[in-house]
Amino acid sequence: MPVSQSTVHLIDHLDRDYLRQALERDVRAGLASRPKQLPPKWFYDAAGSELFTRITRLPEYYPTRRELAILRARAGEMAAACGADTLVELGSGTSEKTVLLLDALTAAGTLRAYTPVDVDAHTLAEAARRLTARLPGLTVRAVCADFEHHLGLLPRTGRRMVAFLGGTIGNLDPATREVFLKELRATLRPGDTFLLGADLVKETGRLVAAYDDAAGVTAAFNRNVLHVINRELDADFEPDAFEHVALYDERHDWIEMRLRATRDMTVRIGALDLSVPFAAGEETRTEISAKFRLEGLRDELAAAGFTTLRQYTDPAGDFSLTLAGV
Ligand SMILES: C[S@@+](CC[C@H](N)C(=O)[O-])C[C@H]1O[C@@H](n2cnc3c(N)ncnc32)[C@H](O)[C@@H]1O
Repeated sequence: MPVSQSTVHLIDHLDRDYLRQALERDVRAGLASRPKQLPPKWFYDAAGSELFTRITRLPEYYPTRRELAILRARAGEMAAACGADTLVELGSGTSEKTVLLLDALTAAGTLRAYTPVDVDAHTLAEAARRLTARLPGLTVRAVCADFEHHLGLLPRTGRRMVAFLGGTIGNLDPATREVFLKELRATLRPGDTFLLGADLVKETGRLVAAYDDAAGVTAAFNRNVLHVINRELDADFEPDAFEHVALYDERHDWIEMRLRATRDMTVRIGALDLSVPFAAGEETRTEISAKFRLEGLRDELAAAGFTTLRQYTDPAGDFSLTLAGV
């Protein structure tokens, strides 16, 4: 997210203007489309990332705990298998789980550099500060960038592991995912690896509960995109006039989060010189979160030119980590 720069240290912006222009483009196009939609990357300013961290601690939100369990059990094995000296992490957020990988790669004696990449400059800088203090020998180069557009500009040196954790891959629709995986593959060389965290298909009730918690934290996270647009684009959304909706689409195997207008209203977006009508009951899609099968993940990776080296799940079979080579 574009943020005031005074609080940001330890951080490179690949293209400062890009994120602002992308937000403008996404809001203009998304609110003109039928049904309306907004891409999930705009949930994440400092407040959105804080809400996401709270989500990861909720009883209903199993993915973080499951992915952590896999990393606790297998990070050493992953580090030995990849021999990476550079860890690049896409959508790194607070990098909390990544510490397990960083520790394993440090113990393996190979790690020299960590490049976390995220659109939320504030959370990225905080994470970089914390990790630099924790692992003083490590070069941390935090990069504020959009992994859908800036992959080609990320570090090209060293033996790299690219990690993409948290099931964030599920936020990309299948066509976008295909392009993303192919572009990522094109940036890698023999010896580099890709570690992909993906949530698995399971019973619908548990899936929906993970995106519609009893405490309403996910609802606040969902509405945060409206606060972001208000602040960044001088808009006058009333977030409380929108209801949080989470449902599972079995045809596509994905969760959809939506914001439903509770009454007729017109929202003014000053920076775009735009007035947008919402009808009572109208829904704006704010996120998809695709759920996967292990074989499907291997197939998608193979179609993009990756070779699956190892695939791990937690004991309950809820979440997966796939280590792929090129
Ligand atoms: C679901 S959270 C996952 C955070 C962390 N990796 C985890 O596993 O807990 C998604 C993260 O990706 C970031 N993000 C979303 N879309 C992005 C994009 N297009 N480019 C870069 N970062 C993005 C968000 O800011 C957020 O930190």
